[in-house]
Amino acid sequence: MFVNAKEMLIKAAKEKYAVAQININNLEWTKAALTTAQEQKSPIILGVTGGAAKYMGGFATVVQMAKTMDKCLGITVPVAIHLDHGSYDECLACIDAGFTSIMFDGSHFPFEENVAKTKEMIALARKNNMTLEAEVGAIGGEEDGVVGNGDVADPAECKAIADLGVDFLAAGIGNIHGSYPADWPGLDFGVLTKVAELTGGLPLVLHGGTGIPVEMVQKAISLGVAKINVNTECQLAFAAATRKYVEDGKDKQGKGFDPRKLLAPGAEAIKQVVKEKFELFGSVGKA
Ligand code: 13P
Repeated sequence: MFVNAKEMLIKAAKEKYAVAQININNLEWTKAALTTAQEQKSPIILGVTGGAAKYMGGFATVVQMAKTMDKCLGITVPVAIHLDHGSYDECLACIDAGFTSIMFDGSHFPFEENVAKTKEMIALARKNNMTLEAEVGAIGGEEDGVVGNGDVADPAECKAIADLGVDFLAAGIGNIHGSYPADWPGLDFGVLTKVAELTGGLPLVLHGGTGIPVEMVQKAISLGVAKINVNTECQLAFAAATRKYVEDGKDKQGKGFDPRKLLAPGAEAIKQVVKEKFELFGSVGKA
């Protein structure tokens, strides 16, 4: 059931669990995410970067595929389709394409410009019954060409952006896209606590969900994180399972070259990661 992300995240923030944003890259990803959400009775957010949308044939292609699949598979749990790290133009394109939620990432602009553009996007999102995520303090690392230098957010700036009326807020707290380096100092819980205090119950978003230790994830949720984004971990699991299939020579046995067989272990591996995330984030049975 396609919805915007408002109610699912308000409920998550109130009941102290987090909804997983699982980034999708193709049909197999979408199907794995939707069916696992249904099996686990969990809400889910399908994340789409501009790069992933381009790969799949455009924002409208992705949204039509996901919405139609949702209907054909009889998915009844709440599903939001959300633009991840959108530029100004990508947000406009997603409003047009029928997304239910968008992230406007103005974190690389001077603060006043981030405020002005976020404000504009909030008005457009409201008009179209969509939810809007904003970002303060760029998330480190690289994702589909979006590069951030890992700033830790200024809590006062978070409050100013939250007060504009965003539905949920991503604050950089030392989190990074992709795998974490061995010398990563961990999440900055001092800043997270301050941001949560100043934004009074607004659902907070933790990007870079791949590889954050379990205790840190749990602590972040207890402090107000209600949405956690996961991308790289599904990609790694998919690649490892596909590699094993080929290295075991299975593609050369019978009709093992059939894409429906060749991609099956990878899809199953994604399902396993998604299930583990729902369990860790506490969203099983919440739909
Ligand atoms: P990872 O790729 O580190 O899981 O991060 C995903 C993310 O934050 C999407 O915005």
